[in-house]
Amino acid sequence: MGSKLIGYGSYLPERIVTNQDFEKIMDTTDEWIVQRTGMRERHFAADDETVVDMAVVASERALASAGLTIDDIDLIITATTSPELDFPSVAVQVAGKLGAQKNVPAFDVRGACTGYIYALHCARAFFTSGIHDRILIIGAEKMSRFIDMNDRSTAVLFGDGAGAMIFERSTSSYSGIIDTVVMADGREFEMLHGSTDHRIIMNGPETYKKAVTLMPEAANYIMQHAGITAENVDWIIPHQANLRIIQSGAQRLGFPLEKILVTVDKHANTSGASGVLALAYGMDNGFIKPGQLILYPAFGSGLTWGAALIRV
Ligand code: UT7
Repeated sequence: MGSKLIGYGSYLPERIVTNQDFEKIMDTTDEWIVQRTGMRERHFAADDETVVDMAVVASERALASAGLTIDDIDLIITATTSPELDFPSVAVQVAGKLGAQKNVPAFDVRGACTGYIYALHCARAFFTSGIHDRILIIGAEKMSRFIDMNDRSTAVLFGDGAGAMIFERSTSSYSGIIDTVVMADGREFEMLHGSTDHRIIMNGPETYKKAVTLMPEAANYIMQHAGITAENVDWIIPHQANLRIIQSGAQRLGFPLEKILVTVDKHANTSGASGVLALAYGMDNGFIKPGQLILYPAFGSGLTWGAALIRV
């Protein structure tokens, strides 16, 4: 028992904030940001634009691409770390805004930047157990809500956006969500966390060191588990936190850089939306083609990390 991808969609807010925009308001340079992170611009949601608003548009686009309505979906899972309301979940609000009539179950997962891998992990379990047939997975974040403009070491790193994917149960175990692995180590949570006054607190260099080892570890684990090697993978879409982390991971795994999909230059770090947005970007722009095998490693606050193997 497996699944297949039957629709996807994404949404990026209209407002683009460039490195030059940051140069005007803090002690930073385009050169530093590009050299240290690979980021050039990011999207920021409007003040009155919420995580739910962005998730709704991405979901509408995913439903349209699948030729479905929300009532054809039997589970909604949202990966988000930045919802405006503590409750109810973003997922249930999305169902409401999309006019769901059939009491579709909906919940959020909070795996920070690994959130979309946690969501895929849940979906895989529901498909293999035969509990759900059509699952809408959303990654949606308004990270700009947490940005402290007095902290240049984190302010330039994040962006907003939402992506959505729809998977349907199938008899093939070689399509859709083929495999997932998720891990967490709560002992390290102080390295990267949100503060009670809603700011991002990060020890950048320590987080960097963990990211460059744990993402490749998860990628290797899942390839071994699935009995495949780097040659079998068409694309690797790592969590988009820093171009240097992405390149170092590719090197450790022995993947040529041409196989790595990069969006960190355009989207910066969109946390739980990162991989979902990147997949949509890759498909929309013809890089990723139907039938290709994607390796999806991620890492984030928690610490959390993991990987998924997807055939689109
Ligand atoms: O998505 C979840 C996971 N997140 C990550 O994986 C992020 C991991 N960490 C990183 O990507 C990098 O550590 C950063 C991009 C955050 C920072 O890069 P770095 O090369 O590790 O820089 P650093 O923190 O060691 O700082 C080097 C210097 C410092 O100046 P001094 O002390 O050497 O004089 C910083 O104050 O760069 C300075 N700096 C900046 N300079 C200009 C820090 N931020 C900026 C800035 N503009 N925006």
